[in-house]
Amino acid sequence: MLELKDVKTHFPVKKGLIFTKQVDTVKAVNGITLSIKQGEILGLVGESGCGKSTLSRTIMQLIPSTEGDITLEGLNLTKLPRSEVRKHRLDFQMIFQDPYASLNPRMTIFSTLAEALTQRHPNLKKNKSKLTEAVVALMERCGLNPSFMQKYPHEFSGGQRQRIAIARALAPEPKLIIADEPVSALDVSIQSQILNLLLDLRRDLNLTMIFISHDLSVVRYLADNIAVMYKGEIVEYGDSERVFNEPEHSYTKRLLDAIPHLES
Ligand SMILES: Nc1ncnc2c1ncn2[C@@H]1O[C@H](COP(=O)(O)OP(=O)(O)OP(=O)(O)O)[C@@H](O)[C@H]1O
Ligand SMILES: [Mg+2]
Repeated sequence: MLELKDVKTHFPVKKGLIFTKQVDTVKAVNGITLSIKQGEILGLVGESGCGKSTLSRTIMQLIPSTEGDITLEGLNLTKLPRSEVRKHRLDFQMIFQDPYASLNPRMTIFSTLAEALTQRHPNLKKNKSKLTEAVVALMERCGLNPSFMQKYPHEFSGGQRQRIAIARALAPEPKLIIADEPVSALDVSIQSQILNLLLDLRRDLNLTMIFISHDLSVVRYLADNIAVMYKGEIVEYGDSERVFNEPEHSYTKRLLDAIPHLES
């Protein structure tokens, strides 16, 4: 469904009084080749600064790639003109670590979800009862009580806010969801509820997802395949259990050793 071929994203580092002199480049993403099937959850792990977020923003065409091909259902996005690229933005939706920062505090849940729904189906704007029906269905699917639709984000707990963010991401019927550390800010008990919601959604809707996390136990629980990223490159890729039980790359072994173990 999504294919990346030798994708690079380099940032110029500029110096001088008015930053005119390019002195260096940050090779945030440096030659990534990957493919994701429909309905697959790909776990992307690696230490802070290795390029995970830059890779996801590059896939979504929020920042231009320096080199390489990004193909969504056979369509090479890097070859499209800017105006065409914008049309495909809806195909990619993100879920972030901090749902409070990513939700508009002045919008009710109804308005937030209605706006996201009408992006894909503008005709819904003219049909208030259909729109409300769609908002109710989305909320129920994400484990939210629809009677709270007129409330604001601050009236919800962290876990519920992340459910709202997930509902908003689903609303435009994206082809790919990128979740960037979506449970890192939540209590452990709430984390598993959100992870189970994501698994239910994948089962019911055949969602395709890139799940970014530094927490390998979380990734193992969720992902079919794992890509380990180090300094802008994928150093190890494979079936989740294989990567866990027989890591091949020394960096993966180090990541696994860093997981705290409970002593018996
Ligand atoms: N707009 C930018 N301009 C210049 N350098 C950037 C830019 N965005 C990111 N970088 C650099 O690219 C590298 C990768 O950053 P990125 O945010 O993708 O890492 P990450 O793996 O998501 O880290 P974290 O786990 O902390 O979120 C870092 O060295 C960062 O400083
Ligand atoms: Mg990041």
